[in-house]
Formats: sequence, C-alpha cells, structure tokens
Amino acid sequence: MMEALEKTAEFKEAMRRIPAAVAVISALYQGERRGLTATAVCSVSADPPRMLACVNKQVRAHDPIGLAGYFGVNYLCHDQAPVAQVFAAPASQPEGRFSCGDWIEGRSGAPLLREALVAFECQLVQSVDCGTHTIYIGDIIDIAQRDDLSLLYKSGAFRAA
Ligand SMILES: Cc1cc2nc3c(=O)[nH]c(=O)nc-3n(C[C@H](O)[C@H](O)[C@H](O)COP(=O)(O)O)c2cc1C
Repeated sequence: MMEALEKTAEFKEAMRRIPAAVAVISALYQGERRGLTATAVCSVSADPPRMLACVNKQVRAHDPIGLAGYFGVNYLCHDQAPVAQVFAAPASQPEGRFSCGDWIEGRSGAPLLREALVAFECQLVQSVDCGTHTIYIGDIIDIAQRDDLSLLYKSGAFRAA
C-alpha cells in the first residue's frame, strides 16, 4: 500500500513538470449548464476528427456530460486564467460559473466560450470507465478558433505560451 501511495505521489510530481493546455469541458443537460477545468484532454484521431476528455466521476459535470451526449472542449487563451479558476474552484451554484466569460450555445446546445482559443463542439461516441475517471470520447461537430497565445498549467501555476 505504501508503495502504491509513493507511486501516486511520484506520478503527481512528474505530471506537474509537464505543461498542459487548459480547457473547460462543458455540457447542457435538462436546461442546466455544467463545466469543469480540465487538462486531461487530447486529440484521438484526425479522420474522423475525435477528442477525448478524462473526467473524474465525482465532478458535478460528470453525469450531465454522459447524459447530454454532447460536450464542449473550450481551450483557453493566455488571459483567461480567471475562467480556469472559476471552473476549478468549489461553487455552490455550478450554473453560476458561466457568468465568467461570454458563453453561447452550440448547435447541439453545448455551452461554448465565445473568446476561447479553440472551441470544439463534440458528439459523445464512447464512454470508457477508467477507475476514478470516465474517458469521454467525442466526434468533433464544430470548431471555432482564433489567433492568440494559449493558457498552460505547469508546476501548479497558469502561464501564457
Ligand atoms: C489545472 C487544472 C486541471 C484539471 N484537470 C482536470 C481533468 O482533466 N479532469 C478532471 O476531472 N478534473 C480536473 N481538474 C479538477 C476540476 O476542474 C475540479 O475538480 C472541478 O471543477 C470540480 O467541479 P465541481 O465542484 O462542480 O464538482 C483540474 C483542475 C485544475 C485546476
């Protein structure tokens, strides 16, 4: 057990060294918006264009993403650390997080951040149970992008790149 705990600590320490692009994963389910800040997000394939996001089962957006069948992956610009903080901090009203930033509805209803570096709208095609997390895999149905610096997370701090 001790060995497993040490591995986890070492893994976390190692991951802190790796810069990661910061995104907000978002969904609309039964008229309520939910979202979380996430770095465990990546592209899966280009043909078809497909992405995955790893979402902790305890996060309040977890079930709504699976049930909605659509989600947004909103990669943040360098000056949007406040958005990342709002979507990562405990919130008594998770819908209230969306007052930070200019959020619009995609054609699936998924919330999309108008000023995102890149906003992907995804249709859920597979959910993979993976311990504490679910890996949500989605086909890209729409993309909005702009030229700007991105927001990265490294060693516990947000940076521009
Ligand atoms: C930089 C950063 C990256 C994160 N990446 C993930 C992630 O990839 N997956 C995840 O489930 N939670 C991730 N989190 C934690 C969630 O953002 C946080 O637990 C969530 O917003 C809590 O939402 P809730 O209070 O509505 O349950 C990350 C947090 C931060 C600050």
